[in-house]
Amino acid sequence: MFTRIQTVAFQGIEVLDVDVQVQLSPGMPKFQIGGLPDKAVAESRERVRAALHAMGLALPTKHIAVNLSPADIQKEGSHFDLPIALGLLVAMRAIPSDAIENSIALGELALDGKIAPVSGVLPAAIHASAQEKNLICPQACGGEAAWADDVQVLAPSSLLAFVNHVRGIQVMNPPQPEIENITQKITLDLRDIKGQKSAKRALEVVAAGGHNMLMVGPPGAGKSMLAARLPGILPPLEPQEALDVTMIHSLAGKLKEGRLIRTRPFRDPHHSASMPSLVGGGLRANPGEVSLAHLVVLFLDELPEFQRGVLEALRQPLETGKIMVSRANAHATYPARVQLIAAMNPCRCGHMADSERACSRAPQCGADYQAKISGPILDRIDIHIDVPEVSARELTNPAAGESSEIIAQRVLETRQLQLSRYKPFGDNVRTNAEADGETLDRVAPLDKKSELLLKNATEKFKLSARGYRRVQRVTRTLADLEKCEIIKEHHVAEALSYRRIYY
Ligand SMILES: Nc1ncnc2c1ncn2[C@@H]1O[C@H](COP(=O)(O)OP(=O)(O)O)[C@@H](O)[C@H]1O
Ligand SMILES: [Mg+2]
Repeated sequence: MFTRIQTVAFQGIEVLDVDVQVQLSPGMPKFQIGGLPDKAVAESRERVRAALHAMGLALPTKHIAVNLSPADIQKEGSHFDLPIALGLLVAMRAIPSDAIENSIALGELALDGKIAPVSGVLPAAIHASAQEKNLICPQACGGEAAWADDVQVLAPSSLLAFVNHVRGIQVMNPPQPEIENITQKITLDLRDIKGQKSAKRALEVVAAGGHNMLMVGPPGAGKSMLAARLPGILPPLEPQEALDVTMIHSLAGKLKEGRLIRTRPFRDPHHSASMPSLVGGGLRANPGEVSLAHLVVLFLDELPEFQRGVLEALRQPLETGKIMVSRANAHATYPARVQLIAAMNPCRCGHMADSERACSRAPQCGADYQAKISGPILDRIDIHIDVPEVSARELTNPAAGESSEIIAQRVLETRQLQLSRYKPFGDNVRTNAEADGETLDRVAPLDKKSELLLKNATEKFKLSARGYRRVQRVTRTLADLEKCEIIKEHHVAEALSYRRIYY
């Protein structure tokens, strides 16, 4: 008896078809899985055996051969349990073959027959939809699968639930798409930050235009505090963005209760984090923090403390919006269009600018410390600001600042303006930060005075072509915040102030 059922394998965000073939033949009772399985797949045998036993079914005393085809791609993970078990059930005539026909199945089996959640259900569902197939997945992932358009999803809690559904004993309802609750109140408010008026303004500009930012200042100035409040003023993800972000989290197995992600997650890996955890990799070429931060904020606190290799590896995603994860036998490419927010002290002790507290090696220590960040990385950051210490007066008697809610509204309006402006330019540009040279020339017209100021500044500060574009991008955002079509002189002046001299 021969049966087949479809499942998938993942290579980066690419979904590949895998055929699970099950054959029962007379001969020595044996259960074999072939087709380049990794350890988790090979262990599938025991889980399938136990899960069938939990339903009161014993494996037939025959030679059972399972083949995962095509045999030349590595099969990884535990999601092959369910298709193998379903193929066996058909081969054993416990369910009719049309129950699994035209379906893609994935799920892990527990020893008691329950179907445990697995990663990658959303991309698998989108793949099933494109092929006009149905999807059979774990109950816990049903809410996630239901987000794919036009795909019939069956999300049984256990193998028995599936069999009962097929036999019409207990019919399952299709899962409903679940969404993350975004009405929750902003917990970290910009109003909590005393003083730091110009840093708060820069944060608003950064949020509005999607720019990268580097904050430099002494310890305790409030840099981490500022960064943590950025997600609170960013608009929720657009529907397609939400799907993309959720897909990567699904692949990484990091989706909370299978809900679609709407708020922009804030990824802030520690500087001691390893290369694979940051840029992706490891045994299964999993997505790393830069991919989990796709379309959202990647906050790197104490930037110079990150391993040199990690900082260099960041260049690729900052330039191309993608990251290639290499491993022994394959490459996987993940999207990684991040908004980079970085913070650092000006030197190791942090007090270089304060002559009373600076160490004896100042300013050389600062030069050494800042040299850890390479030029190409600095070049990719549109906005550089100094965050000085808050004065005692501002700490004890602060002026009332605006709340995150009010700022978020302005940011949202500016983002919508950009979305409609860049629509004719295709999917690649949605914010000013993503606009390239030619696009900028078209969308950021200067008036006479601003043109002169920019020209003079370019000569005086010896701006590189990249540096010039950076200023241009920021002026576009500044003008957008004021709903100004033409760039004015004060926009150029402010944009020029978001530069910093490095030692
Ligand atoms: N501007 C500020 N307003 C209110 N509290 C502040 C401010 N700056 C710093 N603090 C306090 O100091 C602590 C350290 O700030 P933090 O953001 O970690 O500084 P940094 O990252 O610049 O070293 C914060 O948890 C907060 O309690
Ligand atoms: Mg800090």
